[in-house]
Amino acid sequence: MKNICVVGLGHIGLPISGVLAEAGMNVHGVDIDENVIDNLQGGSILIEEPGLEDLIRGVVKSGRLTAGGKPEKADVFIVAVPTPVYDDESANITYVEQAVKSILPYLNKGNAVIVESTVPPRTIQDKVAPVLEEAGWDVAANEIYLAHCPERVIPGSVMKEIKENTLIIGGYTKEAAAEVAEVYKLFLEGEIIETTAITAEMSKLMENTYRDVNIALANELAKISAELDVNAHEVIRLANVHPRVELHEPGPGVGGHCIPVDSYFVIEKAKDVSPLMQTAREINNSMPEFVLSQIEKLTRNISNPKIAVFGLSYKGDVDDVRGSPAIDVVFKLVNNKKNYKVFCHDPYVREDQVPLRIHPLEESLEKADVALVLVDHSEYKKMDTSIFEDRMKTPVVLDMRNCLPEAKGDTRIYPIGDLSGLEVLGE
Ligand SMILES: NC(=O)c1ccc[n+]([C@@H]2O[C@H](COP(=O)([O-])OP(=O)(O)OC[C@H]3O[C@@H](n4cnc5c(N)ncnc54)[C@H](O)[C@@H]3O)[C@@H](O)[C@H]2O)c1
Repeated sequence: MKNICVVGLGHIGLPISGVLAEAGMNVHGVDIDENVIDNLQGGSILIEEPGLEDLIRGVVKSGRLTAGGKPEKADVFIVAVPTPVYDDESANITYVEQAVKSILPYLNKGNAVIVESTVPPRTIQDKVAPVLEEAGWDVAANEIYLAHCPERVIPGSVMKEIKENTLIIGGYTKEAAAEVAEVYKLFLEGEIIETTAITAEMSKLMENTYRDVNIALANELAKISAELDVNAHEVIRLANVHPRVELHEPGPGVGGHCIPVDSYFVIEKAKDVSPLMQTAREINNSMPEFVLSQIEKLTRNISNPKIAVFGLSYKGDVDDVRGSPAIDVVFKLVNNKKNYKVFCHDPYVREDQVPLRIHPLEESLEKADVALVLVDHSEYKKMDTSIFEDRMKTPVVLDMRNCLPEAKGDTRIYPIGDLSGLEVLGE
């Protein structure tokens, strides 16, 4: 039986701890956040993810998963700590470095060290391996089996994907990749592909960069379509009929802590040869400003307009607000000299997560001049659109996710990608 120590018990470390414990391993989870540990010891969690709390409660109760503030001796160490960017968009890998240093006193020859965090290219070779080598381990000679296994789960489906996705294992050595594959075989139903550490790092980063660039193209199309009086969604639908085309959908910006961050990791290491990635970032970062400009146009003739905002998270049906473009839009409205009265609604996000008041849906719509949809939560996708006419001063909706059902009665819904006919209220 293997003993596993997981460092970082967040959106990735906690599910991985749960599935390994469920597979019969003894798992010790470590976190620097006392709140996380206190909750976990009582069998509860701070993360919203379908199926995760039940799993964790079970494995904590059975004693298979323990938690504390310090690592313990184990056969396998898994690092799943954050890798954000600084304000200047350079990578902050200090959490990874600290996490690896924290396990040094507990390492024994033959242990495996796995970095699951998404990291900039060459981090394993240039940053992680040297920490182990300075501590006296010959990593090239496999005294420690070092590997990077980038996680590719999607929030909302983590419990399914963590077992079923294809896993890339980037070994510092060939032998390390093979050894680490044995760990994932304990619970993984998906395919395992062994490669080098740098290839694993870059393939993870390019997956998200591909999506960032593709969304930027769709966002650019949305802006072009407003100029050319063409419906971008119909254009995308028809272009995607081609068997080798897969255009993404436009939106109010790209959020979360993966897609908008990962291309910066590559850009930082290859600034002179990554103009496409840099432009994609600029286009996607410009979208909240684009949303604001549409609201400004709509409300040009109205003083102190009331705006009902639908959705604050970075994507539909999650409570995660990290890097959310919706929050960016809200603060652009709140801080605007036009003095917008902004009433936010979100079925998932709580007031302790954001410095904003969150209102019931009906209250946010009451006598509002404009409703602004920023997130495609299921609740919005199936809402009865007669509520706009019933509650609002003017039933005008700007749908930046193109997710609402058809308008009813006098309601006008203007979706991103089809904004050429956008009215000016009061004209
Ligand atoms: N969340 C996702 O959907 C997702 C998907 C793919 C990849 N990733 C990557 O996985 C990594 C982890 O992301 P996450 O979403 O789980 O982050 P998270 O913020 O949810 O959790 C990280 C946890 O690590 C803890 N931590 C930080 N430094 C520590 C240390 N030195 N020792 C012990 N604990 C420490 C934090 O307190 C936190 O609880 C990141 O690199 C991220 O880019 C995340």
